[in-house]
Amino acid sequence: MTNSVNIQRRTLLKAAGIGTAALAIFPSLLSAKMDSMRIGSKPSVEFNPDVEIRLTEEVKDVAIFQGPKTRVWKVTGQVLKGDKSVITNDEESYLAPTIRLHKGQKVRIYLKNKLPTATIIHWHGLHVPAVMDGNPMYAIANGETFVYEFEVLNRAGTYWYHAHTHGLTAKHVYSGLAGLFLVSDDQEQALKLPSGEFDLPVVIQDRDFDAQNQLSYSDHMMQKMHGFLGEQILVNGQPSYALEVSTRAYRMRLLNGSNSRIYKLAWDDGTPMKVIATDGGLLETAETLPYLMLAPAERRELWVDFSDKKVGTTMTLSSLEFSTGGMGMMGRGSSHAGSEMTVLKVHVSKKVASKDRLPKQLSQVKKLRVADAENPRSPRRITLTMRHMSALLNGRSYKMNDIQADEIIPVNTLQVIEFDNGFHRSGGGGMGMMGGMGMPHPMHMHGEQFQVIKRESRKTYNSVTDGLLDKGWQDTVLVMPGEKVTILKPFNDYTGIFMYHCHNLEHEDMGMMRDLLVK
Ligand code: C2O
Ligand code: CU
Ligand code: CU
Repeated sequence: MTNSVNIQRRTLLKAAGIGTAALAIFPSLLSAKMDSMRIGSKPSVEFNPDVEIRLTEEVKDVAIFQGPKTRVWKVTGQVLKGDKSVITNDEESYLAPTIRLHKGQKVRIYLKNKLPTATIIHWHGLHVPAVMDGNPMYAIANGETFVYEFEVLNRAGTYWYHAHTHGLTAKHVYSGLAGLFLVSDDQEQALKLPSGEFDLPVVIQDRDFDAQNQLSYSDHMMQKMHGFLGEQILVNGQPSYALEVSTRAYRMRLLNGSNSRIYKLAWDDGTPMKVIATDGGLLETAETLPYLMLAPAERRELWVDFSDKKVGTTMTLSSLEFSTGGMGMMGRGSSHAGSEMTVLKVHVSKKVASKDRLPKQLSQVKKLRVADAENPRSPRRITLTMRHMSALLNGRSYKMNDIQADEIIPVNTLQVIEFDNGFHRSGGGGMGMMGGMGMPHPMHMHGEQFQVIKRESRKTYNSVTDGLLDKGWQDTVLVMPGEKVTILKPFNDYTGIFMYHCHNLEHEDMGMMRDLLVK
């Protein structure tokens, strides 16, 4: 970290035209110049925001359970300019406020860090300039403010934001630094999908609490290899989450905000999952699945219609038992990756007359074509490996300022990229696995949303496959052990550094993350 900061500093000094001799005589020049030049240090005059908000990160105690309050890292939001409904704070929850913006809006966000540690926030799934993306190199110390400015270019969808601190993302997100970032647009609004109280955010996370109701998180090596698995499921920051609903249709926005737990979501009464949106917004038409796999960072939106249910009915959304074939089966405590857990309950408590109809056509998804890619026949391969207590991408661990030749991408191109989780290696020598056992990796790329074009597998996952949805726009894709997933990803508009990494946050912090330089 010191190294990269120094490099950054040197570059900035050069840009500022300050010679080292001058610095020796007037050392105060350094801090003054540095401060005015640090990226995100102040609002720019040329940027004219429609909306201005302040997010303050601080230590707070929230009442999650009865008894002692839980100490968390809480983000509180405040609208400085624009419609107050842009921010919804939830005092009862450790979750960061929900931000709601419309496509085309320009937003300025002041992030104020009052935590006893350096942090930075990343806008997951949003297509923003590299310097506004919350790269770990832009972390701000206690007392500092980072000023983000960007235009919302994304289509309507359920995006989110979270801490992205160097080596500490898992711990920071676990402590509370994550929230929803919902984008609307004109086409989506014209559909008149269930809105207001009928548009339900469902942020699913797992945590462990001690007898004093305090969050516990250990970073033992074994836990890092598996990823953290908590025994307690929380939805929107609350345990035993229950919803009262009327006999009508709802839009449910699911986000897996967990560090590493993968969910296999299904209704207990056999009601199929009607998926209307993925990470990057609405599908063209709804997809019906028996159950839904939701890996860390993934979002899926459901159309749930309770109109044929009787008042008094209770439905349970559970995560069903599944197997990833390998070490995912081991874990600490009574639950393991893939064990059955209750996520939330729904009570149908009110009869209403409603004529909600799921629109046949939800949106237009422009299909990306391999023929338009810069590398139609030579995919950029990213191999995923875990061994010797390390998690690697193309055999490399994360390092700042370490861009390799194969990590440079020409701007305004479309790229074929494949994530190879032991698909190409012949057995024995690891299969991209640890001790011969593989792990699923939810692979995420910053910047624009991508499309999955192919999923190839050396193994069959009978308890998983029917819940994978490789359609529409995505920014995260679950790659099972022995699989290769090929995507088409555009790199338009912005040059600079954009990251790609495993969104199992323990893996990410262990180094399963790299930078791409778009230029
Ligand atoms: Cu959800 Cu690099 O982030
Ligand atoms: Cu991201
Ligand atoms: Cu991983």
